Amino acid sequence: MLAETPPMGFNTWNTFGVNINDKLIREIADAMADSGLLEAGYEYLVLDDTWSEKERDPETDRIIPNREKFPNGMKAVSDYVHSKGLKFGLYSCAGVRTCTDHPGSFNHEFKDAETFAEYGCDFLKYDFCYKPVIADGPQLYYRMSMALKACGREILFSACNWGADEVNKWIRSSGAHMYRTTGDINDSFESFKSIALSQLPALCHSAPGCFNDIDMLTVGMYGKGNVGSVGCNDTEYRTQFALWCFFSAPLMIGCDVRSMTPETKALLTNKALISINQDEEARPAFAVGLYPWNEDTKVFMKHLSGGEYALGFFNLSERDCSIPAAFWHFGLDAGYGMVLTDCFTGEESGVIKEYYSPFVAKHDCAVYRAKVVKL
Ligand code: GLA
Repeated sequence: MLAETPPMGFNTWNTFGVNINDKLIREIADAMADSGLLEAGYEYLVLDDTWSEKERDPETDRIIPNREKFPNGMKAVSDYVHSKGLKFGLYSCAGVRTCTDHPGSFNHEFKDAETFAEYGCDFLKYDFCYKPVIADGPQLYYRMSMALKACGREILFSACNWGADEVNKWIRSSGAHMYRTTGDINDSFESFKSIALSQLPALCHSAPGCFNDIDMLTVGMYGKGNVGSVGCNDTEYRTQFALWCFFSAPLMIGCDVRSMTPETKALLTNKALISINQDEEARPAFAVGLYPWNEDTKVFMKHLSGGEYALGFFNLSERDCSIPAAFWHFGLDAGYGMVLTDCFTGEESGVIKEYYSPFVAKHDCAVYRAKVVKL
């Protein structure tokens, strides 16, 4: 089964935008294999928009790779990516054109799926620009999903209709493996905060086989690149990464993996956080308690397999403060306590009873793997 746990990989869009080419993709493949990212679970290398020529091949009506950017064709690129032990992803669109005005797959779905399979594709991101107004959005995703299943190659289907048409009501039935539910992220605290908070009611729709995608990470971009914006600091990036992990969101890296800082690399390969994201039960996190005096502080609890839990205290507000959680808020009886292991330091607490209230600086988080013990 594809997407038993949230897919993990890298996507070109956030940093490189339209500036992608054969050499860059090979360098990224090298970096993913050599830096420990692949080992940590990041297996898909996805080329986003602008990999193709502006028009289809007039003779075959096929989408063809841009000759200048990919002079060796696309199979040569995917062969290289595969030789590194990675999987290869491409991008297309349910409309007549992609968002940057390249050919979309509308009414060419089965032909394009065959072409992508010939190119060695293992993952297709499928966008939503230039959809003809008379076309039914869900129908276009049902159609491409069937085309991918008929193409003779196993291809993970990553839908990207930005949450339109009440996507979480029908997308799972389309066969898609992940699906975007929000507009595009940019590299700022405000952007990832609003995306994360907007998804709280939708987390319950994520489950093995099909995950709610809250967009590519901006961790490690520091304001540079295609969706650069004002950038974030390392504290904010760890909050972003922890939120994506608690929300069982696909982890698609968006920074330049060829030049990660040690902090970025350590965060993106943090085993404790990744194990929360990749937990086989993929249960939705839920918000614990109410904090009316500072509503932008959140406590999230997520049940993990093996009788463990993830407990996260997120300060998304503009002031440093304590964030209290009474254990009865998430159902624990007073006869039991918790032992917390800090996901960043690995430090284990003693037995904590009844409530916990870490002091969390603004935009930061405190995240733990928790075990329940009888007192
Ligand atoms: C849309 C998507 C982005 C990216 C661009 C490419 O905006 O939401 O993730 O794929 O298109 O043009």
